Amino acid sequence: MSHLIRLATEADLAAIMELEKASFGNDSWSRPTMRAELTAPHTYYLVAHQDEKILGYAGLSKVASSSSADIQTIAVSDSHRRAGIGRHLMQALIEQAAKLTATEMYLEVREDKPAPQKLYEQLGFEKIDKREKYYQPDGVAAIVMRLTIPTNVKSEPVVLGIETSCDETGIGIVRGTTLLANVISSSMDQHARFGGVVPEIAARAHLEALEATLQKALETAGISIKEIDAVAVTNGPGLAGALMVGVGAAKALAVAIDKPIYAVNHLVAHVAVDILERGKLETPTVALLVSGGHTSLLLVRDLLNDVELLGETIDDAAGEAFDKIARVLGLSYPGGPEIDKAAQNGDAKAIRFPRGLTLPKDQEKHRYNFSFSGLKTAVARHVELAESKGEQVSIADVAASFREAVVDVLVTKAINACQDNDVPRLILGGGVVANSRLREVAKARCQEAGIELRIPALSLCTDNGAMIASIGAQKIMAGEAPSKLDFGVYSTLPV
Ligand code: KG4
Ligand code: ZN
Repeated sequence: MSHLIRLATEADLAAIMELEKASFGNDSWSRPTMRAELTAPHTYYLVAHQDEKILGYAGLSKVASSSSADIQTIAVSDSHRRAGIGRHLMQALIEQAAKLTATEMYLEVREDKPAPQKLYEQLGFEKIDKREKYYQPDGVAAIVMRLTIPTNVKSEPVVLGIETSCDETGIGIVRGTTLLANVISSSMDQHARFGGVVPEIAARAHLEALEATLQKALETAGISIKEIDAVAVTNGPGLAGALMVGVGAAKALAVAIDKPIYAVNHLVAHVAVDILERGKLETPTVALLVSGGHTSLLLVRDLLNDVELLGETIDDAAGEAFDKIARVLGLSYPGGPEIDKAAQNGDAKAIRFPRGLTLPKDQEKHRYNFSFSGLKTAVARHVELAESKGEQVSIADVAASFREAVVDVLVTKAINACQDNDVPRLILGGGVVANSRLREVAKARCQEAGIELRIPALSLCTDNGAMIASIGAQKIMAGEAPSKLDFGVYSTLPV
């Protein structure tokens, strides 16, 4: 379960002292000192809690006449390390310091504690000084770190998102959690005669489409480029050449308008569209992402800090399987909509096609992984065999039975992921979400299992720039430091 953060009060003193002693031992503040800290007019203390239990606390001090804020202390319960609590507390303090109009923030950290130093660096702090023998009695030095508080710690930043990981050139613009524009230019037609996305063609098409797509997005949002507070861009996973076009454009734009840039993970961004539809993401949630390029199951405990890849396809992506089977059946590209249409008049039970990685023996290693290559072979064999016998193949029946096999596996594994992890909700994403049977089966089985199902609007399910902008805005609002300008593209970027 995830934690919440709220302002500390004097009533938290006992719980805070307990954590203080456990964390700092001999170095702990006394109870009167802690009480004075909590209640002083120039301090600001937060606690992280789960139900009634205090799991961490942190505080800053900022006097009205100064433009800098100081982190006074931070501690997290030993039993809840690595849950992102320290990061959340720090982010909340940075936001508060920005609200108090501080432009800089300082902290001291023990030289022998590399983990917190790394966290502070990730949040944008720099090491500026060292004080020898600062911590007594053990004589450990203090590293002094400074953060220049980004001016974009804004409650509702305007963010431009650029997506070019596959064949959609997407430019989206959001203000905080509000969608302002979502313009997509697809090169799908150019790939049709190859029956799948050709990376070089996709990259060139992005290059050609970017400027016009950007102009249209700005027009739709009704803003000028100067009103953009930050640029966000997909830097993986995806096709390397295609990603490079978007990242190059995003960097050039950020430099030209002198605004920060945020590199974004495409898969995680798919989940962020939910925020545009209902203001905030309910966590934890499982996400099933199914498109021509990916088939992934994510467990999202916290969108920015805690996303786990539960499983993914070990061969074809779900959409790719639709596209390939469409070819076998003589249907056109993209195959998903064609098969969906043909299946309407077919019998889903006509042929029992294999469900990949669903046998008891697969459960240990591949419970959340997908495989469609066996299914693909089975369909091709079925068609060949019928033809060799001179029998008429029912395209409708094959399409319906194939679609059923894919949908069955997708939904079964997604619901297993929810139930195994005690997660009461499921979000869908990716172009395959257009599939009518997938929607039907997901709805019915989620209802049966008491799982809340979120299906975003289709224009937000397929690859788009709005999802990139949305997660960019979340990063900014959480006080996350921008990416350095020299970040690269990673075709297999992990979540
Ligand atoms: O997310 P998306 O637009 O982008 C890429 O992956 O590029 O997904 C496109 C994929 C294609 O493989 C297409 O065949 C599949 O989504 N798709 C569908 C349907 N509509 C699109 N698959 C099954 N049923 C559909 N109705
Ligand atoms: Zn995608």
